[in-house]
Amino acid sequence: MKRHLHPALATVALAACFLCTQTAGAAEPQQHDDEKKVDNGMCYVCHLTLEHEAITKIHLKEGYGCTECHGPSTEHMHDEMQMTTPDFLYGRREVEALCSKCHKDPHKGKQDKKRAFIERWQGKPRTNGRAVSEKSICTDCHGTHNIDKGLKAESKTEPEFTAAFNGKDLTGWKTAGQAQWKVRLGRIVGTPGATGGDLFSEEQLDDYLMAVTFRADWPIRAGIWLRGPKGPRVEIFEHDKPTAYTGTVGLPGKGLALLNLRKDLFDPGGWNTLSIEVRGPHATVWLNGEKIGAVACLTAEKGPIGVHLEGGPGYENAQLTVGEIQIQKLTK
Ligand code: HEC
Ligand code: HEC
Ligand code: HEC
Ligand code: HEC
Repeated sequence: MKRHLHPALATVALAACFLCTQTAGAAEPQQHDDEKKVDNGMCYVCHLTLEHEAITKIHLKEGYGCTECHGPSTEHMHDEMQMTTPDFLYGRREVEALCSKCHKDPHKGKQDKKRAFIERWQGKPRTNGRAVSEKSICTDCHGTHNIDKGLKAESKTEPEFTAAFNGKDLTGWKTAGQAQWKVRLGRIVGTPGATGGDLFSEEQLDDYLMAVTFRADWPIRAGIWLRGPKGPRVEIFEHDKPTAYTGTVGLPGKGLALLNLRKDLFDPGGWNTLSIEVRGPHATVWLNGEKIGAVACLTAEKGPIGVHLEGGPGYENAQLTVGEIQIQKLTK
């Protein structure tokens, strides 16, 4: 396996990183007997969200832990400065070769399902931040193991997503109101301050696809602006009258234009992805890959995208962590 430095780190949850004092287990890669107990616990300490992710879950059940693919990564685990990468990383070009070592002809008798999948998702942002096409690699379709920025570097013919947030600072963004916005460990961390506020892109957008990956500390009332502060805004909240959850679309001062009634689509403790298509007056919303619905209520023809955080009583401890904001501009 080739050692490969992969720049994108979006799905890594960091909450417990600096508390980590565990020693590496005795797990050795590329070698299994069925008796050996495989345990990913030492990686979950920092990579919280991957415990529930498909690629890791499926393979753990088969006796293949993180170290099977990434190596024991002892230095990586014990480097509190986070300067050492794991032993094995995979760029887009290396994924197929790894997966194909064990999966010789994975879609035998299932080509029609794969084709149907491509038709269903082509041109739409998926929950893992990837676009799907005939040239997709395994992890574009399977799992949410990665949310990465590699897409743009690979091919001119695939739809291009670009990062609206550069992962380092708030270049290209401006703030409004009292909310505080900081960049920590590659993420935007927003707190509402006394009265809340907003973070807006300097750029004005008309038609686009957007995928926003975020984690919320409750209770919170937040949202994503689609074309400036007149709305609509895709809400991150729990609302009781009417009953509505994250993914609902609101028009400030006017009420809710689209209700998400399904509480189960949202993971309150983990990372979630809102995918939004904005075209003319229409906006279509997906939460974690499930379609919520569409509205036709965009009046402004252009406007900034933005992140909203409401302040005031009850929201003192709210925090919104945004891992990624990916945008693909659409041509009319
Ligand atoms: C002490 C916390 C910690 C532990 C334990 C840990 N990681 Fe990480 N890992 C991180 C952080 C932080 C990053 C992101 C580094 C950055 O932002 O530069 C990361 C990034 C990664 C990446 C992506 C690196 C890249 O450059 O794309 C992989 C793969 C990875 N870890 C695998 C593992 C595996 C496998 C284990 C268990 C054997 C593990 N990690 C245990 C903190 C940890
Ligand atoms: C079956 C092999 C396999 C297993 C098991 C596996 N990974 Fe990975 N991992 C990969 C591949 C392949 C990639 C690159 C995926 C891509 O970019 O499409 C990757 C990417 C990552 C990344 C970088 C994500 C990003 O956004 O760039 C992290 C972090 C990571 N793995 C951590 C882990 C941890 C922690 C475990 C165990 C809980 C684990 N992996 C288990 C194969 C594996
Ligand atoms: C070390 C061997 C190994 C590697 C590497 C590996 N897998 Fe697997 N994978 C397995 C085994 C064993 C199973 C369970 C048996 C089966 O369904 O094929 C499995 C199951 C799966 C399944 C579930 C199949 C089902 O029945 O639902 C998917 C999807 C999958 N792997 C995708 C991947 C992808 C994507 C990669 C590359 C990131 C990968 N695998 C790498 C061994 C491996
Ligand atoms: C364009 C999307 C796409 C790509 C790319 C893709 N798959 Fe799949 N794969 C699917 C779909 C759809 C299914 C069918 C799932 C179902 O049965 O409902 C599937 C099924 C599978 C299964 C399960 C087969 C079974 O027995 O149930 C495995 C394993 C698998 N894929 C592995 C891989 C590997 C390894 C790669 C890369 C070499 C890959 N896939 C690339 C979409 C894709």
